[in-house]
Amino acid sequence: MTSKLVVLVSGSGSNLQALIDACRDPGYGAEVAAVGADRDGTFGLERAEDAGIPTFVRKVRDFPDRDAWDAALTETVASYEPDIVVSAGFLKLCGPRFLEAFPGRYINTHNSLLPAFPGMNGPGEALAAGVKLAGATLFICDSGVDTGPIIAQSAVPVEDDDTVETLTERIKEAERAQLVDSVGRMVRDGWTVEGRRVRLG
Ligand code: GRF
Repeated sequence: MTSKLVVLVSGSGSNLQALIDACRDPGYGAEVAAVGADRDGTFGLERAEDAGIPTFVRKVRDFPDRDAWDAALTETVASYEPDIVVSAGFLKLCGPRFLEAFPGRYINTHNSLLPAFPGMNGPGEALAAGVKLAGATLFICDSGVDTGPIIAQSAVPVEDDDTVETLTERIKEAERAQLVDSVGRMVRDGWTVEGRRVRLG
């Protein structure tokens, strides 16, 4: 059985592309059923269109308030009956209705080793803090900012001559591999969440 993914993006969509490429192998166990964005004109949407994947855009400013936006996003995503919803560079925090609709099945990839450096500037903060290991975290979303139960983490070294750009790229490479590997294991082998502990298989 092929599991369905809905992927949410706001930016360049390189994580999305890694999933699209992985899904071309029938043995991977998943297909990208739809790609959603919170804004027009992102490269992520273009990547989806190029792959023949349905897309949708739900902008907060098109709705009377955040709750109405959350309801509309929930309804649209649910209409694709996803097994997993992947936030891949999606720059919006989803509301309670969304989280309740996809319990334990809405996951996000972040470019730091959480719980260090949550938020928008993981690589920059890692560099400023002088840590020697940076990396990426895949986790199950809860109502906080980058606070949910951790599915997987990958570390990369911080080099002496790193800039925010070079460190960001090194992290993103590890992040994409981790996302593809973990989502594949989740759809093929299942997963359980007990408190903060996530187990694959
Ligand atoms: C990822 O590094 C993610 O952790 C961060 O934004 C980046 C998205 O990259 N929040 P892309 O759009 O998948 O290329």
